[in-house]
Amino acid sequence: MATNDKGIMTIRGSRITGWGTALPDQIVTNADFEARLDTSDKWITERTGIRERRFGGTTASLAAEAGKMALKSAGLVPSEIDLLILSTTTPDLTTPATSSVVQDLLGTGGGAFDLNAACAGFVYAMVVAGGMIKMGTNRVLVIGSDTLSKITDQNDRSTAVLFGDGAGAIVMEADPVEDKILSYDLGVDGSAMPILYCNHGGYMTMEGREVFKKAVRVMVESAKNVIEGAKLTSDDIDLVIPHQANLRIIEAANQRLKIPMEKTSIVLDKTGNTSSASIPLALAAAADSGRLKEGEIVLFCGFGAGMTWSSTIVKWSKE
Ligand code: COA
Repeated sequence: MATNDKGIMTIRGSRITGWGTALPDQIVTNADFEARLDTSDKWITERTGIRERRFGGTTASLAAEAGKMALKSAGLVPSEIDLLILSTTTPDLTTPATSSVVQDLLGTGGGAFDLNAACAGFVYAMVVAGGMIKMGTNRVLVIGSDTLSKITDQNDRSTAVLFGDGAGAIVMEADPVEDKILSYDLGVDGSAMPILYCNHGGYMTMEGREVFKKAVRVMVESAKNVIEGAKLTSDDIDLVIPHQANLRIIEAANQRLKIPMEKTSIVLDKTGNTSSASIPLALAAAADSGRLKEGEIVLFCGFGAGMTWSSTIVKWSKE
């Protein structure tokens, strides 16, 4: 906590002031996979909850579209941004960072960098943004953008049906009154790397069942950590915004946390797993449909390859 010129403690917290999304036009349905792979709409829907996903665009173009919408929603022009953080697992180039391309497309001010913590990346980026705001940065554009269709073997039924492309973004601004980020938890277990990875130029390799089991475990532990860290209980959570990988993973985690599914934002039926984009897409869906009210308590919870995990509790307040 900082002190002012009179030596009085002052808060320099952060809050979310805008959001935006971008999805490519091409819709790929379960029926499209059924037509060319040994799979069925029934299997995909029952085992994952996914009905369709979008393919197309580049990580930078989707990121810029979502970022532009988030800036508009926050009532800001790009030059008012002091920092751009792009969470992505699928950068368009090895170098420079995709955030450089996005900076040029948008015209944002300040610095820009990519962050890769796989599907847990967006919440990692939110936490980093909160830390930068505490250090004096005023406005951060946080974007999650991924084009997983490019690193997925479209002939492998065990992965092809799961992933999609998309982007979501939020603006985080300094809040001099109260920090709306109540707690956070970041983690990684690198020994789990072999269960989900992708070599340069290759396709994702995954042990689905192992990822499933570990995902539920880390989501529950991480969520418990932030709930306790914010001195709350599960009953205090008004909305869960989980990483959208598999509906059954979310249901299993919610059940263990004793949080009903009605309090959960789900978009995976329409998007599949969009990695870094999934949490901001689910946030935007909730915010746009009026599900988020001033002062409500929101639990964000991500997990991904690494194995990484990340959670934060945010007190919702746009004003
Ligand atoms: N259509 C039909 N059958 C399929 C299939 C598909 N698209 N994909 C896999 N199968 C088959 C498997 O080959 C297996 O067949 P077998 O029993 O003859 O070997 C059978 O379905 C059951 O496989 P299993 O892996 O036990 O199924 P599951 O209930 O665990 O569901 C996943 C598979 C991949 C949907 C599930 O494990 C999962 O979602 N894991 C987590 C993946 C994830 O979230 N990754 C990203 C993390 S960020």
